[in-house]
Amino acid sequence: EKGGYDYFMLKEIAEQPQAIADTLLGRLSERGEIVLDEVRLTDQDLRDIDKVFIVACGTSYHAGMVAKYAIEHWTRIPCEVELASEFRYRDPILDRSTLVITISQSGETMDTLMALRHAKEQKARVLAICNTNGSTIPRESDAVLYTHGGPEIAVASTKAFLTQLVACYLIGLHLAQIRGVMYADEVAAVVEKLQSTPDSLRLLLDRMEDVRALARDLKTASTVLFIGRHVGYPVALEGALKLKELAYMHAEGFAAGELKHGPISLIDEGTPVVCVVPSPAGRGVLRDKVVSNIQEVRARGARTIVIAEEGDENVKAYADHLITVPSTPTLLAPLMTTVPLQILACEIAAARGLDVDQPRNLAKSVTVE
Ligand code: M6R
Repeated sequence: EKGGYDYFMLKEIAEQPQAIADTLLGRLSERGEIVLDEVRLTDQDLRDIDKVFIVACGTSYHAGMVAKYAIEHWTRIPCEVELASEFRYRDPILDRSTLVITISQSGETMDTLMALRHAKEQKARVLAICNTNGSTIPRESDAVLYTHGGPEIAVASTKAFLTQLVACYLIGLHLAQIRGVMYADEVAAVVEKLQSTPDSLRLLLDRMEDVRALARDLKTASTVLFIGRHVGYPVALEGALKLKELAYMHAEGFAAGELKHGPISLIDEGTPVVCVVPSPAGRGVLRDKVVSNIQEVRARGARTIVIAEEGDENVKAYADHLITVPSTPTLLAPLMTTVPLQILACEIAAARGLDVDQPRNLAKSVTVE
């Protein structure tokens, strides 16, 4: 049932291109418009929204962090993302014109469910992004957009994460289209890029052998740090979370710009630092900033593992280990850059002889608060 893979997690990582394609299926018109007929909120409801909150836990929260960048950029609606476990305890300001988007693979996460109930009590509109048909969170929501990732068995979330990103992109583009913030050809251009991600991802997955070799080298590290900027920041957090939950190693993700405000003192001779480099195209400034952060950690002895876009040859000079990913527009880049980090965590855990699919102390769905 693992389809020839050693672990469900590896099988699910390999299924990601198909999961993305399935999540896009039926939601795009031939002209490259977004069609979300199943979302039971009227266009008028969506036009009336003046604020978006995204609430979720763990990996789904990281998807929400990426979504914030995309939704604000495309729709110009203020968007906040918050851990579900914190949300209702701080009395958030919600009303009829607030859209609360929950993100949950299982649809049963208690923290997220309680946040959703709180939002409904305050009369906010509630939209669920969920991978499990008929589960509690979508049942209690005003609207739902299902991710079509298929069942995810491994405790570590992989394909659910990428499909959650796709669902968030679709919602962002849909809102931008309905509200007239983006021109049809601008939406169509992003859609075209989204449609090409499954093929790019297949190419990427075919050349992950060296990540396996790297994992064997890193399995005894006492800590692994991850840095990124913009959408690369949630990717760094996600890489660190995967390593913690699977390999039981200390790992921490930082916004690269925060290093000099404290964490850089953690860097010692040989400390592995995984650096997520933004695409040089479009937002060259961001990319250059991360490259200078890489130089800073290297100057202090770090061993740098650099995830960069193909063709960004200059980063080679700063990388002890370079992993390249196919080129994608900046906002969509997490669909690529997350994948080597999933494989890295999985292979480090395997090299340490751990139960990859069922790490200690964790449950696939967390139904207690
Ligand atoms: O089912 P959910 O998406 O609501 O679950 C949320 C988190 O518990 C989940 O993403 C968790 O962080 C994963 N095990 C991480 O790999």
